[in-house]
Amino acid sequence: MTVSDEVVAGHEPVLVDEMLGLLFPGGVGVGGTFCDATVGLGGHAKAILDHAGPSGRLIGIDRDQDALAFARGVLEPYAPRVTLVHAPFSRVRSVLEALGAIPLDGFLVDLGVSSPQLDRAERGFSFQRSGPLDMRMDQSAGETAADLLDRISQSELERILRDYGEERFAGRIARHIVEERVRGTLDSTGALAAIVARAVPGRERHKNPATRTFQALRIAVNRELDELDTFLDQAAECLRPGGRLCVIAFHSLEDRIVKRRFRALADPATRGPRLRILTKRIVVASDQEQARNPRSRSAKLRAAEKLE
Ligand SMILES: C[S@@+](CC[C@H](N)C(=O)[O-])C[C@H]1O[C@@H](n2cnc3c(N)ncnc32)[C@H](O)[C@@H]1O
Repeated sequence: MTVSDEVVAGHEPVLVDEMLGLLFPGGVGVGGTFCDATVGLGGHAKAILDHAGPSGRLIGIDRDQDALAFARGVLEPYAPRVTLVHAPFSRVRSVLEALGAIPLDGFLVDLGVSSPQLDRAERGFSFQRSGPLDMRMDQSAGETAADLLDRISQSELERILRDYGEERFAGRIARHIVEERVRGTLDSTGALAAIVARAVPGRERHKNPATRTFQALRIAVNRELDELDTFLDQAAECLRPGGRLCVIAFHSLEDRIVKRRFRALADPATRGPRLRILTKRIVVASDQEQARNPRSRSAKLRAAEKLE
């Protein structure tokens, strides 16, 4: 198996049919200009291009240059109809403006990290494979997890673990981390996972004790919730009336932001662009998909349509 085969085997896009059904009310082959704001490995993007047909155009955004390089290969057969942009999706309006792509026919955002980000030890997201404490989706900018852990106070670390990891042992873990930081032993994801394991009493079945700590630090390093908020502020403005927005979230913090923002934008008292919510209940993966692809088990899809 080559590295690329491994990557593809490890990543299957989630909720593809459900997403296509919501993004394309007109059915197959209707064309249009779409933005996949988290193009990742290009799986959803390919499905969107196939579904849109030969007059469909796709703008793919990602802040991970490795992901973009991979997506470029996957989307090569569609090259004249694809534009890939290295940017955080909080800059979506200026990216689309520069490309003359407003008003847009539809957006997809598939949040979170990709399999290669998680699986490659050197990216620093994994508690299973030890690597540097990096955790940046965009390795060309910003503070690494090591920088963050070096700088913040114990109370700030506790807040991050509690708010972004929903970690009930946030206080104990923060204290252990700060103690080890002084000793200079906090130098890899493996070391961090071991510290968390020592700090947390008892064991949960089927869950590494470091799961929530890693989620929390990743969210903080990449400012994931601020990014999502800013994106949702801009997305409705970029859509044409009748254009649609699909968001796939993987944990309750993200999903709550999407739910609240959709509700606020659907409120008749809202000034500016308004949305109609298409998913009164969140869409989750079928039993078959969940059995085939464990990652789909926590996926939550919400969609909305821009009103006139
Ligand atoms: C779950 S993967 C997307 C997978 C993709 N849908 C596919 O089918 O291959 C999430 C991607 O979003 C990117 N990402 C996450 N937050 C981002 C942000 N704020 N701006 C741009 N890209 C982001 C990550 O770098 C990652 O490549």
